[in-house]
Amino acid sequence: MKETFERLFGDKETRLFFAPGRINLIGEHTDYNGGHVFPATITYGTYALAAKRDDRTVNLYSMNFEDKGVVSFSLDELDFDKAHDWANYPKGMIRYLQSEARTSGSGFDVVYYGNIPNGAGLSSSASIEIVTGVMLESLFDWNLDRVEMVKIGQKVENEFMGVNSGIMDQFAIGMGKKGAGILLDCNTLQYEYAPLELEREQVIIMNTNKRRELADSKYNERRGECDLAVEQLQKELSIETLGELTEEAFEANKHLIESETVQKRAKHAVYENERTVKALKALKNGELERFGELMNASHVSLRDDYEVTGKELDTLVEAAWEQRGVLGARMTGAGFGGCAIAIVKTDEVEAFIDQVGKTYEEKIGYEATFYVADIGDGARELSADEVIV
Ligand code: GLA
Repeated sequence: MKETFERLFGDKETRLFFAPGRINLIGEHTDYNGGHVFPATITYGTYALAAKRDDRTVNLYSMNFEDKGVVSFSLDELDFDKAHDWANYPKGMIRYLQSEARTSGSGFDVVYYGNIPNGAGLSSSASIEIVTGVMLESLFDWNLDRVEMVKIGQKVENEFMGVNSGIMDQFAIGMGKKGAGILLDCNTLQYEYAPLELEREQVIIMNTNKRRELADSKYNERRGECDLAVEQLQKELSIETLGELTEEAFEANKHLIESETVQKRAKHAVYENERTVKALKALKNGELERFGELMNASHVSLRDDYEVTGKELDTLVEAAWEQRGVLGARMTGAGFGGCAIAIVKTDEVEAFIDQVGKTYEEKIGYEATFYVADIGDGARELSADEVIV
């Protein structure tokens, strides 16, 4: 990164920042429904090497999108620009983080590099947003509340990029902690860290290598269906979100939801929320097998009721369920391609990867990729020697 920076912007004193990607252990499509989520940050992520300038120019370069070259704009022109492609994520952050009380005063040069597999649903976009936030905060000595930064990241997705995503990804990435998952109540933003004390198991990430095409429009469609369910339930119930309902309350009132499809979507949101709370309890009690069963039930619900899996994710997860030493497996993130995760006994990991990989290739026609998920810290400044490329 240092050589790239020097080649593009000259020999300047730089600082290095990092924001991870995330997996979600359980609690899928619950964040925008006012429910619970249980994500954890991984050690793959986005690096930003940056230096301040004397003028008001911002120069951004990504080593992952070399063909796009250096994207340049002025701090006085921070509108979305299709031609700026990936750079709209940091641009949105710069725009929303600036306010009267917080101006960067000068521009800056940045080289980004990310090692989160592309389009894998491990939140590379939230990762670039939050690394940009941490970088600005540090370069310009703003004292930013981390949760405020997280909310601004979500605003970039919602208002700048037009994806109606919830708060989970930015929250996990901004607040993640080594060795722990975060149970977050997306309604109140209250959270607690839960240590993932896996002594004889590993979390394996399984990438379908299927591009998440259509993901954004389907995502917004699901959100719309959940909003409709709430609207129809409000005929009799005073609720604002599906996350406020217990399973019992849902069953007693589901007839208020007119379409069967919308009823299934709402069922997923309610049951998945309860499952997530149960999963935390199981983890705290050391009942890892129970945790795994809840993961499996989550996948079934996402497959049959929420319908966001697709044949690639189902093939991976269903093959995983067949293997020895697997405690649980499910898709993770938005779905429609991207990644699944499995908790696997360490001494079975090799056979697991071999078998699941074979089945996937036979049925789908191309390879899946497997990674061991190390749970690392959230977004932060690194020392210059922590640069990896
Ligand atoms: C994406 C969104 C999150 C969340 C998940 C599904 O990752 O960005 O806000 O809704 O999908 O759980």
